[in-house]
Amino acid sequence: MVLNNFIVFEGIDGAGTTTQLNLLKETPETRNSYYTAEPSAAPTGVFLRQMLKGSFKITNETAAYLFAADRNEHVNGELFSEGNHLITGIKKACESGKTVICDRYFFSSLAYQSIGCDREVPERLNEGFPLPKLLFYFDIEAKDALKRVDSRGEREIYEKEDFLSRTVTEYRRVISEYSEKGRKEGMKTVIIDATDTRENIAAIIQKEIKALL
Ligand code: TYD
Repeated sequence: MVLNNFIVFEGIDGAGTTTQLNLLKETPETRNSYYTAEPSAAPTGVFLRQMLKGSFKITNETAAYLFAADRNEHVNGELFSEGNHLITGIKKACESGKTVICDRYFFSSLAYQSIGCDREVPERLNEGFPLPKLLFYFDIEAKDALKRVDSRGEREIYEKEDFLSRTVTEYRRVISEYSEKGRKEGMKTVIIDATDTRENIAAIIQKEIKALL
């Protein structure tokens, strides 16, 4: 099922999704949209962010369960927001006619949690979530993305070249599978060259969103 008004940005750490999401907040057409990210800002997501900082260790399989649980609250929970920052309730917000723009979604789980874990686990845990109407995938090699991560400060647990290179391979597989599968259901996938300039990328994104709104 496709959730109308739902837009998702995906890509490895350092691909630039957050920068582009922030630019949209200043754009007239999308200024009144809801903005959100996964892990969510609900307590389930806060717990995951501690794990990402390395506060405790879990297997990638356990991570798959936790990301999916957080996603369930984020998508299917009650609508709760602070200004234009959506905490939970993506489905309710989209169904009320609001546009929701989300940094990461289940494609992240299918890519990151397929490493060191049977791919079937994240696939099974995420099969019930709706598809977005528009999916942007920011394509970049791990070494280029990590240069940006390092210019920002401390690394999180997944921000290692070997791990992220494998994540890129998984992402490309997942995105190609879903661009085909999703198209049949009404989802559009746009692949962005994440090494392009900030301005060019912003122009591509704005054009696609304007066509949708
Ligand atoms: P990121 O999106 O970079 O957020 P921030 O910029 O606030 O640190 O970090 C989230 C990390 O979580 C990133 O390394 C990808 C990982 N992740 C998963 O492994 N699986 C998931 O399902 C999601 C949503 C994120």
